[in-house]
Amino acid sequence: MQIEFSPVTPAIGAWVQGVSLATITPAQFDRLYAIWQQHHVVVLRDQVLDNGQFERFSAMLGELDPPPNQGAGRKSVPGHPNLYVVSNRKNGEGEPLGALGDGEALWHTDMSYLERPPFASMLWSIELPASGGDTCFASMPAALRGMPQDLVSRIERLRIKHDGTYDSGGYVRKGVAANDNPAESVGTLHPIIISQPETGERTLYLGRRRNAYIPGLPLAESEALLNAIWGYATAPQVTMRHQWRLGDVVLWNNFTTMHRRDGFPPEQFRTLHRSQIKGQYVPTAANQKEAA
Ligand SMILES: [Fe+2]
Repeated sequence: MQIEFSPVTPAIGAWVQGVSLATITPAQFDRLYAIWQQHHVVVLRDQVLDNGQFERFSAMLGELDPPPNQGAGRKSVPGHPNLYVVSNRKNGEGEPLGALGDGEALWHTDMSYLERPPFASMLWSIELPASGGDTCFASMPAALRGMPQDLVSRIERLRIKHDGTYDSGGYVRKGVAANDNPAESVGTLHPIIISQPETGERTLYLGRRRNAYIPGLPLAESEALLNAIWGYATAPQVTMRHQWRLGDVVLWNNFTTMHRRDGFPPEQFRTLHRSQIKGQYVPTAANQKEAA
């Protein structure tokens, strides 16, 4: 079988056919990786997998990152401590069996408050609601290309604080106090424009809007500049929407994309298994000469 692909949109995403992740060969993996590097998100449909096979494929991208230890403990797949359960299911005592509940999640990059954030993440659909729960992705290189040059020049040497207070569901992270002052909340500074560490492509690296802050600017000025940046980063022409089907696997580059999720009816169930690759790169400012 030959691996084929077609772009989801001109800016982001590729549908990939002709490979079974359960039996993927090193040569097929190299081809898939090259498509992923170029399109930032790859979508594979009709995958017949078990957790061991999903984990084996994930580990071809690097060392796996165990799920975050949240207030209610790690939400791992039973027997697979490195796989994360994203689900609104609860046990008999009403304890969540997975993370994120049924609500909407706003645009974000996973765990970018770390010094070395995860580079790749993927989701595999296990059960789905009748409607809702779509996942959308935005291309950060395309967003950067779409910005007017005066805005690029203005942000080129600036850094942005990636908040460490809240997770993508809006919950306070374990061991941290709630804080809604962007100038004071805990977080990590990264350059706003970085190089994708494996390809060198120039890309925005934004994290999440909540509690984002550009150090050195008065808060109101930082807010106005961030709102302008987010307008380009989430513009329809740089985004794609994924409507899940059972057996889908979606892999994204966490340095070149943001993602968000729609809410869904709370009486229905949505369960996906996620793997994440441990961060090995510190986001590094893009060569500024290149931009001139
Ligand atoms: Fe996420």
